[in-house]
Amino acid sequence: MALNGQTVLVTGSSGFLGSALTQRLVANGVKVRALVRSPRKAALLREAVGVGDIEIVQGDVLDAASLAAAAEGCTVVFHCAAALGGKLGVQRQVNVVGARNLMQAAADAGVRRVVHVSTLSVYGMLYDGVITEDMAHGPGSDAYGLTKSEAEGAVREVGAARGQEYTIIRPGMIFGARSHMWTEVVFRLARLKPTPWFGSGKGFAHCIYVDDVADMMIVLAEHPRAVGEAFNCTYDPAVTWRSYLGEYSRLARSVNDDFLELPPWMLYALAGVGMMFSPPYSPGKMLPDYVDFMQKRAQFSMAKARDLLDWEPQVSLEEGIGRCAEWLRQRGLLT
Ligand SMILES: NC(=O)c1ccc[n+]([C@@H]2O[C@H](COP(=O)([O-])OP(=O)(O)OC[C@H]3O[C@@H](n4cnc5c(N)ncnc54)[C@H](OP(=O)(O)O)[C@@H]3O)[C@@H](O)[C@H]2O)c1
Repeated sequence: MALNGQTVLVTGSSGFLGSALTQRLVANGVKVRALVRSPRKAALLREAVGVGDIEIVQGDVLDAASLAAAAEGCTVVFHCAAALGGKLGVQRQVNVVGARNLMQAAADAGVRRVVHVSTLSVYGMLYDGVITEDMAHGPGSDAYGLTKSEAEGAVREVGAARGQEYTIIRPGMIFGARSHMWTEVVFRLARLKPTPWFGSGKGFAHCIYVDDVADMMIVLAEHPRAVGEAFNCTYDPAVTWRSYLGEYSRLARSVNDDFLELPPWMLYALAGVGMMFSPPYSPGKMLPDYVDFMQKRAQFSMAKARDLLDWEPQVSLEEGIGRCAEWLRQRGLLT
C-alpha cells in the first residue's frame, strides 16, 4: 500500500466505517492515529484492531485544539466522523462546523490530502435515471442529507481558501459487520418466512460493502486525479431490494426468493401517517419520498471512478453478505 509507513489520521474511528478503515490501514503497515471521543470506545477499538501501529488520541471535531494536535505530522486525514441522526442543529454542528474545523486543522498542520466522507443522500430523492457526480444536490428537508451537503460546501470552501487538497467519497448504504441498519435490521427482516416487502422489490437498493468503501478511500488518498473531485460509491449496475434482502434470506434460511409482496398503498399510507407525526427535518418527514425512491430504478453512476481512478467495487453483493455471517452469529442472530 502506498501509504505504508506514513502517519494518517482517522476521525470517527470508533464508528462502523472508521473502525473498518482503521483495521485495513493498520493491517497494511500504515501508522494510524485514531481520533475517538471516549476512553471506553478507545478500548473497544484497540481490541478490534489487535496488534498494529495505532495511536489513539482523544478529541472532538468541535474542539479545534484537539484537531490541531491530532493532525500534526499526518500526511492524510480520513474524515469519517459525523452525526447520522439527531436534531438539525446538532447535525449541523458536527457535520458542517466539524468538517470546517477539520479542514482548517489539516491546512495548519500541512496535511497533504483530506479524504472527506459524504453520502449519496446529498442528491436527495428527486432523480430518476442515471445520477452522476455533477448533478445538483437536492436533499430536501432531511437534516442528515442537508447537513452532509453543507459539509461538502464547507470542505470545498476551506480547500479553496487555504489551498488544502481534498477529495470526497459519496457512499450508498454501507453494509457489513457492525452495520446496525444495513446489516442487522435488514437481516432481521429478511429472515422472516416469507420476507414481507412492499411491491415487487424490483426497485434499486443503493448499497455497498464496507471494505470496498475503505478500499476506495485509500485509493482516493493517493490518486492524482482524485484531487478536488467527488465520487459516488455503490454498485453499478445497482442491485434490487429483492436481491439485497434475498441474499440475507439465503444466509438465514437457505432461500433467496421467498417474498410476500404487500400492496404498495399500505406503505404509502404508513409513510403518510409517519410523516404527519415526525418532527421537522427528521427522516420521517421524507417518508413518502423514500417510499417513491425505493420503487425507482435510479442508477448512481460509477463511470467517473472507473474512468478517473480505474476503480470499481471488488466485493459482490453475495460475497459481502456472506462475510457478515460471522458477526451475525456472534450477535446470536444466525445459528
Ligand atoms: N453507514 C452508512 O450506511 C453510511 C452511508 C453513507 C455515508 N456514510 C458516512 O460514513 C461516515 C461514517 O458513518 P458510520 O456509519 O461509520 O457512522 P457511525 O458508526 O455512527 O460513526 C460515526 C463516528 O463519528 C464519531 N463522532 C460523532 N460526533 C463526533 C464529534 N463531535 N467529534 C468526533 N467524532 C464524532 C462517532 O464517535 P462516537 O463513537 O464517540 O459516537 C463515531 O466514531 C459518516 O460520515 C457518514 O455520513 C455512512
